[in-house]
Amino acid sequence: MYSNSLTEMGDLEIGEIMDILALAAEFKANIRSHRGVASGLLMASLFLEPSTRTRGSFEAAMKRLGGDTITTTDFKTSSMEKGETFDDSIRIWGNYCDLIVLRHEESGAPRAAANISSVPIINAGDGINEHPTQALCDLLTLKEEFGILEGLNIAICGDLRNGRTVHSLAYGLLLLGNSVTFVPGTGLDLTEGTKKYLREHFGSVITELPPSQVGYGDLYEGDCEAKAYMFHKPRSGLEFDHKEKIIYTEVRPDALYFTRCQAERGSSANQAGYPKVNLNNLETEFFSRAIVMHPLPRLDEVSVLLDDHPRSRYFKQAANGVPIRMALICLMLGLKPWSSAATL
Ligand code: CP
Repeated sequence: MYSNSLTEMGDLEIGEIMDILALAAEFKANIRSHRGVASGLLMASLFLEPSTRTRGSFEAAMKRLGGDTITTTDFKTSSMEKGETFDDSIRIWGNYCDLIVLRHEESGAPRAAANISSVPIINAGDGINEHPTQALCDLLTLKEEFGILEGLNIAICGDLRNGRTVHSLAYGLLLLGNSVTFVPGTGLDLTEGTKKYLREHFGSVITELPPSQVGYGDLYEGDCEAKAYMFHKPRSGLEFDHKEKIIYTEVRPDALYFTRCQAERGSSANQAGYPKVNLNNLETEFFSRAIVMHPLPRLDEVSVLLDDHPRSRYFKQAANGVPIRMALICLMLGLKPWSSAATL
């Protein structure tokens, strides 16, 4: 971990991710039976951007463990409104608690906080950069579904440029040996810098998936310029060019992970060029094994008619926020031991 903090997915090694998921599964099996584990400890939840799930589940997690929370949810109600610097604020909050959970509009703010804080920092979402604890909720949901976390193909759809959950989940999936198919909204693709980083860091190759040959084109209402493409480990059978036939079964997704258009960060959705899922899509053969995921909140990219569908998992993802965050709090505060050799 970075300075005993979790500022981005890259701070975690595979063994640490597995420890978090395993402990979360233990907590989830009996979520009401762990009061006392964090008795006497305080968590500060500093949410300087709006949140329902992340703040609610972190605070629920700390209280389920018998600890308590102090909070601020707005610059305007803190002395930063009077001109106090971010650094000074973090130093002060660190005097009052054992752990700081920070959501901030600026990319890199949790890393900056970790450099000066006297207590561990957890990134609860920083600008367009990352949301690592959401990725852990997503990974737990996938593990519960498939039993394993490697060799899957997860299609991440929507606002790939500004969706921070996208970046953390893609990193985690590639680290664990999965393929990731990106299905961008028009003008909302990953930046070239992010693609280069993922390609070089994980040794992945990119295969373009022409909409005419695979089902991803059906997720758009109209013709659009955006093209799906798959990051995967080099292996025989998937290195083809557009003239060759795509190996259909290899590019079908195990999960469709949708994200909303991040209007508050300047994204705008061309309705015809933004991928969405409805009942008809799930009934096609191409998507017949895919579960539907979304970090929420959603707009209209996942139809409410899917809420009771047997393959919808987005409310389960949100519910997994509590055991995941209980596990993180315990491991990061030393209340439960890391089992992986790579840890602190
Ligand atoms: N998934 C997520 O981060 O939701 P909130 O913004 O409500 O915390």
